[in-house]
Amino acid sequence: MTQPHITTAVVYHSGYGHTKRLAEAVAEGAAASLITIDAEGNIPEDGWETLNAVDAIIFGSPTYMGGPSWQFKKFADASSKPWFEDRWKNKVFGGFTNSASINGDKLNTLQYFVLLAGQHGGLWVSLAIKPANVKASRRDDPNRMGSYIAPMAQADADAAPGEMSKGDLETARLYGVRVAEITRVFARPPRHH
Ligand SMILES: Cc1cc2nc3c(=O)[nH]c(=O)nc-3n(C[C@H](O)[C@H](O)[C@H](O)COP(=O)(O)O)c2cc1C
Repeated sequence: MTQPHITTAVVYHSGYGHTKRLAEAVAEGAAASLITIDAEGNIPEDGWETLNAVDAIIFGSPTYMGGPSWQFKKFADASSKPWFEDRWKNKVFGGFTNSASINGDKLNTLQYFVLLAGQHGGLWVSLAIKPANVKASRRDDPNRMGSYIAPMAQADADAAPGEMSKGDLETARLYGVRVAEITRVFARPPRHH
């Protein structure tokens, strides 16, 4: 059976380039368009058209002060316009975050993404990768952060974006693949009996 054609977009903010690398990895996995939220919290005008058109939207932000950056929140507030018009209803949603501490209150950022997806009437995609949490586990293993609802990544506060953990980047890529796979299930034409 041929796979239904689907479209996906990653919309993300990254202050210093670390979350950008994750965004690129998710986009690679999902074959998604990348939409950047700039330092003023804005996206290009055609970004809104893309978001209205795609089947799946994946949110990305670093965790700053225990939540998404203000630039991401400005974007989220601006999404009240498509919310008014139900433009994102029944789309598939996902998200990812990155911060300096191992915990770093990243869960709060992901939970906010789930909530935002819910406000839009969307369907959330979990991570579904078993955590790497045994003695033999390494920094480059997928889901070393042990998250279930979506990818979490950790970048040491003095590490350059080029030093992101391979495991975190692979987790992000695999999540992109999963979001696309699940979106395809929902994009299947209805069965006729
Ligand atoms: C304003 C600000 C607040 C931050 N708050 C947190 C935090 O609450 N928890 C944490 O673990 N790291 C925190 N960090 C560290 C960043 O999450 C970390 O440096 C991350 O890699 C930045 O991603 P970016 O390069 O995409 O901006 C904070 C950094 C900044 C600049």
